Amino acid sequence: MTELLDTVDLDKQLQEQSPQQILKYALSEYDNICISFSGAEDVVLIEMAHKIRPDIQVFCLDTGRLHPETYQFIETVRKHYKIDIDVVSPDGEAVRALVKAKGLFSFYEDNHQECCGIRKIAPLQRKLQGVDAWITGQRKDQSPGTRAQIPVIQDDKAFAHERGPLTKFNPLANWTSQQVWDYIRAFEVPYNPLHDRGFVSIGCEPCTRPVGPGQHEREGRWWWEEATKKECGLHAVNFERE
Ligand code: ADX
Ligand code: SF4
Repeated sequence: MTELLDTVDLDKQLQEQSPQQILKYALSEYDNICISFSGAEDVVLIEMAHKIRPDIQVFCLDTGRLHPETYQFIETVRKHYKIDIDVVSPDGEAVRALVKAKGLFSFYEDNHQECCGIRKIAPLQRKLQGVDAWITGQRKDQSPGTRAQIPVIQDDKAFAHERGPLTKFNPLANWTSQQVWDYIRAFEVPYNPLHDRGFVSIGCEPCTRPVGPGQHEREGRWWWEEATKKECGLHAVNFERE
């Protein structure tokens, strides 16, 4: 309980800090910490963290269904920053069983949870077993329904492991999309070319589409499902707070 209160107090302080200051704090507190990189505009985290720790740990969840442009972009980032990127695959047998039973596009017929569970959540669970803290690119402005309250630092109970607590940092929580893009332009950060073709939020190829003017970015994700709670479970701790 004391630990929880400490995290909540700390969050109040960190909410006032810039992403760079938050990353500096996170990297000074944790050696075994990694950035969870989706291959989208969260690349700014790598740019910022790399300036503090050049060998920053980064991983991507390779669902097997990302856009070709995203795979290319992950490679661009790897070479640009001269970093290792842990590209984490799902369990082959689990994917095979799902595809055999329900085909390659089952998410259009039932919903995305089962496929995301196999291709994203289980691999994330395995990856997080090996670290003490992780860093994500979540922002409050990405989803009024599910992310408006995200803390900058939190005790990640959704993916906690037996050997100890897991801390989650969301350094971009209070930045707007505009601030992220201003930073990308100012520092000439490489970015996914899909952003120039109307993609704002980028996930898997079959489950992501461009959005038009006036549409919210989450409308381009799992568009055939109910509009309000579009989350795949990577950030399950957001729901536990409700
Ligand atoms: S999602 O839950 O809807 O897929 P979103 O695309 O908004 O998440 O991305 C928010 C953050 O989740 C990213 O900045 C990143 O930290 C993490 N994330 C999302 N997808 C991936 C992925 N494929 N690999 C690694 N991290 C990811
Ligand atoms: Fe499967 Fe779509 Fe989820 Fe990707 S976003 S893991 S393709 S349901």
